[in-house]
Amino acid sequence: MAADPDSHGKAATLARRRRLLSPHLCGGTGGREATRCPSSSFRPFQKLEGVGEACDGWTLPSGLQTWLSTFFACLHSSSCRLFFPEDPIKIVRGQGQYMYDEQGAEYIDCINNVAHVGHCHPLVVQAAHEQNQVLNTNSRYLHDNIVDFAQRLSETLPEKLCVFYFLNSGSEANDLALRLARQYTGHWDVVVLDHAYHGHLSSLIDISPYKFRDLDGQKEWVHVAPLPDTYRGLYREDHPNPAEAYASEVKRVVSSAQEQGRQIAAFFAESLPSVGGQIIPPAGYFPAVAEHIRKAGGVFVADEIQVGFGRVGKHFWAFQLQGEDFVPDIVTMGKSIGNGHPVACVATTQAVARAFEATGVEYFNTVSEGSREH
Ligand SMILES: Cc1ncc(COP(=O)(O)O)c(C=O)c1O
Repeated sequence: MAADPDSHGKAATLARRRRLLSPHLCGGTGGREATRCPSSSFRPFQKLEGVGEACDGWTLPSGLQTWLSTFFACLHSSSCRLFFPEDPIKIVRGQGQYMYDEQGAEYIDCINNVAHVGHCHPLVVQAAHEQNQVLNTNSRYLHDNIVDFAQRLSETLPEKLCVFYFLNSGSEANDLALRLARQYTGHWDVVVLDHAYHGHLSSLIDISPYKFRDLDGQKEWVHVAPLPDTYRGLYREDHPNPAEAYASEVKRVVSSAQEQGRQIAAFFAESLPSVGGQIIPPAGYFPAVAEHIRKAGGVFVADEIQVGFGRVGKHFWAFQLQGEDFVPDIVTMGKSIGNGHPVACVATTQAVARAFEATGVEYFNTVSEGSREH
């Protein structure tokens, strides 16, 4: 569906698009390793001094070389990768489930996973427009909207999760969850599932095996338990009790950490590990894990940033697939919550919030909102 570069009138547009997007091309993925340059050669907001040098040792297709050699302004870091880097799409408009490029070509959006109720949903656009005309401020004033929103969220959650903090991104939410857990438990360490991703902040790269394995490696305070994958994992569907077996693996990881003198603050998991491969944990796994973690003095953090807000089907929250009785200590939300706008949330219990307040250090967020109890 990409625009045809040879057809009349389109070539100039494509060239313009490439001029605008071209820094990404040296950071391309999609298995086309031959077109990739070492990303360290590119610096955001810096002039690129000689493409040949930057791409030293790599073979570029001749067409790519031609326009790369004429291009020298590098305005966007190549660490920010584009879809289809060999011929990136320039999307100028979205509506419902469709996206449109500058030529008017229509794409069904199956991959931009945040526009939960569709791109530019009229109600979302109208609400944002109306609010923009009235007020945009920080959290140091009373306002009905934030309390109403917390109230509506609380109606979807178990009663115990009744304190809400609003933030700007999923990463911020998980970072705050980490702080809450540490403050509440007085412990430092975290148990995570293999292949997990919990965000791009330094604190979250540290608890994301999907990232840290390519970087500094595993920190001494991070402990990795196997993904409860009954399709390809350690214990499969033919196991008599995969939930217990995988939960015992968490117990084993906790015990081994404790033997080294470590203390567990939290177990972090996506309620349905999506980054790890859309894994549906066997029923009963989370309650059993929570028991082991709480016995070790830690809390259970359910990352619903990717899978929350009804995305798993009949349940609003993916952790509810584990039974109506299961209640995490902290739930983090993002992505769909704002239909692509920078909103995120942490929901937790009174006990955890009280411990956080006890530090005396305020929680303040310029763009989003502070905590509100309903
Ligand atoms: C499971 C999960 N947690 C956290 C995050 C971080 O969210 P954000 O990109 O809004 O910071 C992501 C983002 O992809 C995610 O998939």
